[in-house]
Amino acid sequence: MEVEARGGASALAGGRQGAEDVRPFVETVLAALAEGARKRNGPVPAGGPQAVAAAVAAAAPEVLPARGTGGQEALYTLVHVMAAGAADPADPACAAHLHGPPLAVAAAADLAASVLNPSLDSWDQAPAASELEARVGAELARLVFPDLPMPDALVTTGGTESNQLALLLARERAAGGPRVQVVCGANAHHSVLRAAWLLGLPQPVVLDTPAGVLDPAAVDRALSGLPGRALVVATAGTTDTGQVDPLPDIARAAAGHGAELHVDAAYGGPLLFSRRAAPALDGLQSAVSVTVDLHKLGWQPVAAGLLAVPDRAALRPLDHRADYLNAADDTEAGLPDLLGRSLRTTRRPDVLKIAVTLRALGRDGMAALVDAVCELARQLADRIEDHPDLVLYAPPVISTVLFRPAVATDEEVAALRRRLLVEGRAVLGRARAGGRLWLKATLLNPHTRADHLDALLTLTTEGTTRA
Ligand SMILES: Cc1ncc(COP(=O)(O)O)c(C=O)c1O
Repeated sequence: MEVEARGGASALAGGRQGAEDVRPFVETVLAALAEGARKRNGPVPAGGPQAVAAAVAAAAPEVLPARGTGGQEALYTLVHVMAAGAADPADPACAAHLHGPPLAVAAAADLAASVLNPSLDSWDQAPAASELEARVGAELARLVFPDLPMPDALVTTGGTESNQLALLLARERAAGGPRVQVVCGANAHHSVLRAAWLLGLPQPVVLDTPAGVLDPAAVDRALSGLPGRALVVATAGTTDTGQVDPLPDIARAAAGHGAELHVDAAYGGPLLFSRRAAPALDGLQSAVSVTVDLHKLGWQPVAAGLLAVPDRAALRPLDHRADYLNAADDTEAGLPDLLGRSLRTTRRPDVLKIAVTLRALGRDGMAALVDAVCELARQLADRIEDHPDLVLYAPPVISTVLFRPAVATDEEVAALRRRLLVEGRAVLGRARAGGRLWLKATLLNPHTRADHLDALLTLTTEGTTRA
């Protein structure tokens, strides 16, 4: 079979001609996205897993046909079925998880990342991308550690990778001595426990968090009983409730025992953009490392994670040599050595969409988005408090609101969440707090309006089904 160089499914995206070959495909993608969203007509397709599986199988019965269907057909069919079957975080009723609606400008930038396809494991694959990543990483690290001369941040695939790297760096700082003991709250993200397991560290000491946040006195007591080195992991923006551990007091407790502090601010980190919201993160500067995600509160397409450290020297344990990527003579001759910027080898330029977003919106624009979702959460909480049939768990700290029908068992709360999901009416999360099961609304869409909030609450108090 002939390999077509131009116009068809074998045409390349890059080079001088590439843009012209991509353009009609982009038009098709946009049409399929619009039509798929119209067909879905809601936050998630109705019918649950069986209906979605049937729609996908019907649209594309053959994954690898003997003869291809061509670029236009393949794109339209598969993008359409994926959009029609998406859980769309841009819909105000899709508010279950820390699963944010990406900005249009960031999604467009991601197209350029795919076309150019730099790989950030060596300078000869990513000359400008690596420079951009260095500049953006340093600037975002300054947001976390504004008073330090040389902070730095690695770009990661998200909070899980950042937490893993944080524990790895702690392990390496302690090399030669007793193994690092992680101390965290029951409110910590599960990736912290997995990272300790993966890295061969002792089972973490997990402290009860009945109030939803780590108690500094409990941290102090736990550290008193530990003989060796400890890494306290605090959370700024917990997954279930969006609460922020009391960072200054935890930092003091840790310092009192010579322990280090890592802060998982995967969710809360972007509060730093907003002068109004940033004080919630006071104490962050005491950390030896900080996880921040921009695909949660930063309106980026997945993946857009960061691990910030107070000084770039802290990243040295990640240095690594592979002659084909960073030969010593190349490095001596001035080619930047990128291999120590990640444990991955081939690596997408996720920094491009971040850089475009930061430049397009500026700090004030980012702050306005952060403030908007925090304000929406306050509005939703007020409505729940005023509602005779609903109970609020607690005033929101960031943009997560837990609530439940006033008269319902935990099983009924769980069933309500599943019913709304399967009927395609709302995607709400679930969280256990204070010994009960709650519905969770994680508000990340800054364009949600008051009437959307009302509609969401109506859904949780009515038994209607979508036509
Ligand atoms: C507090 C916290 N840390 C880490 C993570 C993991 O982030 P990711 O899913 O980007 O790996 C999450 C995910 O929700 C989280 O809530």
